[in-house]
Amino acid sequence: MQRTQTLPDERAATEPLPSHMQAIVQDRYGTADVLRFEEVPRPTITDDEVLIEVHAAGLDRGTEHLMTGHPYLVRIAGYGLTKPKNPVSGTDVAGVIVEVGSAVTRFAVGDEVFGGAKGSFAQYARASARCLAHKPSSLTFEQAAVVPVSGVTALQALTDVGRVEPDQRVLIIGASGGVGTHAVQLAKALGAEVTAVASTSKLELVRSLGADRVIDYTTSNVTDGQTTFDLILDIGGRTSVAELRRALTNGGTLVIVGGEGGNRITGGVGRQLRAMLLSPFISQRMTTFIASMDHSLIERLAEFIEDGHLIPVIGQRFELSDVPDAMRQLAAGTVSGKTAIRVRAEDRSKR
Ligand SMILES: NC(=O)c1ccc[n+]([C@@H]2O[C@H](COP(=O)([O-])OP(=O)(O)OC[C@H]3O[C@@H](n4cnc5c(N)ncnc54)[C@H](OP(=O)(O)O)[C@@H]3O)[C@@H](O)[C@H]2O)c1
Repeated sequence: MQRTQTLPDERAATEPLPSHMQAIVQDRYGTADVLRFEEVPRPTITDDEVLIEVHAAGLDRGTEHLMTGHPYLVRIAGYGLTKPKNPVSGTDVAGVIVEVGSAVTRFAVGDEVFGGAKGSFAQYARASARCLAHKPSSLTFEQAAVVPVSGVTALQALTDVGRVEPDQRVLIIGASGGVGTHAVQLAKALGAEVTAVASTSKLELVRSLGADRVIDYTTSNVTDGQTTFDLILDIGGRTSVAELRRALTNGGTLVIVGGEGGNRITGGVGRQLRAMLLSPFISQRMTTFIASMDHSLIERLAEFIEDGHLIPVIGQRFELSDVPDAMRQLAAGTVSGKTAIRVRAEDRSKR
């Protein structure tokens, strides 16, 4: 049974929600050419979900993997073997709740939220209440929309998985991207001494986020063995496990968050598998994880934001209809931080 509340403002109280909406859809895996901007039925919610009027969405690397269906592991993981199960793409979301499922107690209609949705590249998106938190009032919808997937991943990598401690030396490979720009700021906020790795044109950005040292991976060997680290987050690298071990202290921890490359089946995940197989036999801890979107983590990120320790980095902005172009830019590696997708017109003037 669904419970539908009325919206607080006059417009919504008198107008029912539209039956259809504009969205980015795909019915097969492939390049950005498979994405279409179309009118589709508005989603309906289950008891533990809410319906969000999307103001802005964020583009993350995982969404690209779900678009291409590569590596094949994503298909096996349940997203659809031959075509995407959910034709509307996008996870990162920020917007206003317009409908609340009967089992949801943490939210009401009219609440401004951010988190993970099931298809955020659309005017309306359904989301499990478990994956949402109230939006910090200091952030615009666009800023809030780029935080959830990357921020949660960075926070889990550093804390639950990496077990970072104050004054530890932390190396962050892939510091200029979505996860990395969050990880650098969070590691500093948690008291670590941070060395950040990025390409030449993005070094100033990672320095401005608080990194104590920066390394250009295009001109320097990141793991030359001269400096060793208590914790390495490898977010974007293609460095071999053997090389990464050389840059770890005895007893240090390597967390492989991601990375492109590899073969069509496992993609960058091949390194993760090798690291985990080796870990029980050596003095260093080498591990990986799959981030889980949970409101407690999003709320913790909101605290870092409210305290001024975390500022979302938006490298590019696109209209909803231009998501295919946004995807092409992401694939080309030209984005710094995250890409924001503007969905509601009135937010464009507020930035
Ligand atoms: N485990 C999980 O649950 C989880 C969650 C989210 C994401 N991920 C994975 O994590 C990875 C990064 O995600 P993201 O959203 O941060 O992607 P992103 O925004 O595209 O960032 C990629 C980063 O990798 C860097 N990079 C690229 N090639 C490199 C190289 N050869 N050596 C060192 N650094 C290199 C880039 O640096 P420049 O731009 O300066 O070249 C950039 O900082 C992806 O593989 C994604 O699938 C995993």
